[in-house]
Amino acid sequence: MDFNLSEEQLMIQQAARDFAQNELLPGVIERDRDQKFPVEQVKKMGEMGLLGMMVDPKYGGAGMDSVSYVLAMEEIAKVDASAAVVMSVNNSLVCAGLEKFASEEQKVKYLTPLASGQVIGAFALSEPEAGSDATSQKTTAEDKGDYYLLNGIKNWITNGGTATYYIVIAQTDPEKKHKGINAFIVERGWEGFEVGVKEDKLGIRGSDTHSLIFNNVKVPKENRIGADGFGFNFAMAVLNGGRIGIASQALGIASGAYELALKYAKTRKAFKTEIINHQAIAFKLADMATQITAARMLCFKAACEKDAGQDISESGAMAKLYSSQVAMDTTIEAVQIHGGYGYVKEYHVERFMRDAKITQIYEGTSEIQKIVISRSIAK
Ligand code: CAA
Repeated sequence: MDFNLSEEQLMIQQAARDFAQNELLPGVIERDRDQKFPVEQVKKMGEMGLLGMMVDPKYGGAGMDSVSYVLAMEEIAKVDASAAVVMSVNNSLVCAGLEKFASEEQKVKYLTPLASGQVIGAFALSEPEAGSDATSQKTTAEDKGDYYLLNGIKNWITNGGTATYYIVIAQTDPEKKHKGINAFIVERGWEGFEVGVKEDKLGIRGSDTHSLIFNNVKVPKENRIGADGFGFNFAMAVLNGGRIGIASQALGIASGAYELALKYAKTRKAFKTEIINHQAIAFKLADMATQITAARMLCFKAACEKDAGQDISESGAMAKLYSSQVAMDTTIEAVQIHGGYGYVKEYHVERFMRDAKITQIYEGTSEIQKIVISRSIAK
């Protein structure tokens, strides 16, 4: 693994950093308070190529590598974790899955507008009774010849209220268990498809998370992704890459909180000196810096392996497991270092602490990551 970033990677990092400071920072507290989706900012992210970063330019993408993606994700999440999850889902779960597994017609029709940021996408796997146990899909897709009839409910869907295209996982043949599951591209506005309730969340409140309701939705056969029964393997493959995105989001949350805590510790005085001169505070910052660096290395390792075409189930899971723990630990300590100021919204760190928690839950809980890692090392 090359630890030196290329000129191009450094440029992308700087562009994402500037964008986050200039366009995301203003209003981030208000968007969190009001649960307001960053509409204009996401539009600009699309124009910058941040929503289809790794997709081939012939399908509207930016054609960058996965390390660049980690760098940009960290910079965006360092300021606004809500904008970062919109970016992660569109890049990793929607665009990457379509580029790798969709037909040429599907790529032209759906991937191109998604990767160029003209529209955004959502990935609908979770259900009221199927979260971690993802093979227990209750949503059905009955094979009716030239179309499938889709019925069921999906829960906690990121970009649920703003997406135009949705990748929906459903059970076609329960007898075949996970081999009877399919993945479909579903368009917003199709008869019988309704966007349900918006969740009132602890964190990432600027992202919109909805349930989706499918009531006899006719999905044309050409909208199935891959061969009949490929849907579960598709979802697993996509989630392996998605975990790099969420690991990088967690990394950004951690480094955003750390930088604020470091700055505060260098200026705030107590007992006649800046608080960084007190070992109790300095050691907290030392731990934070070390853990963030280790998390970044795990993200880079998974990204390099992805670019090399290797199996990233283990490295992606390790990156997510560790980075999300670091995000939680670091943000709690950042609030602690800020004392009373840390507990009020103006200082940002309480938002980072709330935002961090979800990184241990979505795209596979920490417990699921341990299943994936332990199965991989036991092989
Ligand atoms: N990579 C590739 N394939 C995998 C895989 C992985 N990491 N994990 C499992 N599979 C494959 C297996 O090889 C198997 O395929 P074959 O039969 O073809 O060999 C198939 O999937 C079934 O595997 P298992 O028998 O191991 O299934 P299981 O039920 O015991 O466990 C699981 C599977 C790993 C626990 C899986 O259910 C899982 O990952 N659950 C978590 C789901 C998840 O991450 N949900 C997040 C929702 S999306 C989200 O949060 C998005 C958002 O909006 C932010």
